[in-house]
Amino acid sequence: MENLAPLYVNHINEQNRRVADVLAREQLEGLAIHSGQYHRQFLDDINYPFKANPHFKAWLPVLDNPNCWILTNGRDKPVLVFYRPVDFWHKVSDVPESFWTEHFEIKLLTKAEKVADLLPKNLDAWAYIGEHLDVADVLGFKNRNPDGVMNYFHWHRSFKTDYELACMREANRIAVIGHNAAREAFYKGASEFEIQQQYLSAIGQGENDVPYGNIIALNQNAAILHYTALEHGAPANRHSFLIDAGASFNGYAADITRTYAFEKNVFDELIKAMDKMQRELVDMMRPGVRFTELHLATHHKLAQLLLEFGIAKGDASDLVEQGVTSAFFPHGLGHMLGLQVHDVAGFAHDERGTHLAAPERHPFLRCTRILAPRHVLTIEPGFYIIDSLLAELKADGRAEAVNWDMVDTLRPFGGIRIEDNVIVHQERNENMTRDLGLN
Ligand code: GLY
Ligand code: MN
Ligand code: MN
Repeated sequence: MENLAPLYVNHINEQNRRVADVLAREQLEGLAIHSGQYHRQFLDDINYPFKANPHFKAWLPVLDNPNCWILTNGRDKPVLVFYRPVDFWHKVSDVPESFWTEHFEIKLLTKAEKVADLLPKNLDAWAYIGEHLDVADVLGFKNRNPDGVMNYFHWHRSFKTDYELACMREANRIAVIGHNAAREAFYKGASEFEIQQQYLSAIGQGENDVPYGNIIALNQNAAILHYTALEHGAPANRHSFLIDAGASFNGYAADITRTYAFEKNVFDELIKAMDKMQRELVDMMRPGVRFTELHLATHHKLAQLLLEFGIAKGDASDLVEQGVTSAFFPHGLGHMLGLQVHDVAGFAHDERGTHLAAPERHPFLRCTRILAPRHVLTIEPGFYIIDSLLAELKADGRAEAVNWDMVDTLRPFGGIRIEDNVIVHQERNENMTRDLGLN
């Protein structure tokens, strides 16, 4: 991959610039950004897997260390308070030595509660940024996650720096290795559980390292949108495979979905048609286009496809208007992607956080943004046979619009989703996923 060190210089400069800008506006002196703390399981001495505050990992790829802090005023070299306890029970993180370390003044902290010694004495004009408001309270922060600061960062985080784009290409590269391994396992007859193991082993990441719980669904399970169970036994008959699986790199996520048919049949034809539609939607992304428009265009394209395949009857626009396409495609076309899989600020209209609502009839759309260069989004149209949603069509007089024999034919296959990760540039779109050869 690209050498990250020179890219990181601009990234850290941009972080510092943003801090200076927002502090001046909000009349604050500095920010104390907390990596987080362990969460303990109820009545137990075992912790849940640690997930760093995204505002913290926006600065540096320290992902596994609680009780760390970044102290920044946007002008001076930021301080990294790095937690390094004396502990013979757990692995203690080594003092970091990496491409980013020279850009921080690193101070070691051996006891979490001693951080007060390293914070400014007067915190009146400092803001705490993090999850643990009780900790902020004890330390004496009056400003905690102020809206003006949060909205500002969330908005600007959507414009990825070159360093971040390089990290996201790398996350995609890793995920594509897993997708290739998973496809092979599917055609060889593996169970969902076995496919998951082969995916994780191919990418060298554990279940707690990947950015979200992989969806590995055979046959009808592909119709369950957030299917994360994993059947251990292989099904008697193999029809279809939907895999929605990502990878992480330096705290940035990939989020990729593919669907496969086991045999050449109408479902395989439908996948090809959905794939063509998905590519057309990617081509429609450009600066200035509102994501909502792309989502609505998806419904019109899907209506055409339902007619072509004899799944629905009537007029394409009517199918959209009557909510027939929504029964087959109930989720949003995509979302912002970055430090979080469903990255923040999908509804933001400006850096003050003005909310751009999704249309009332599309409550699950996660992004209404006006696209701009350096935005990274997923494009993930879907088509599913979800009986509970189709039952609503039957119940209220829209049954006529559906060819139920085709629904019965397609039910054993569950559904289709095709999801790529795309960077919007001024002159073109960069489909990171396809560029890596995943078709
Ligand atoms: N993997 C979750 C999503 O596609 O949004
Ligand atoms: Mn996904
Ligand atoms: Mn997604």
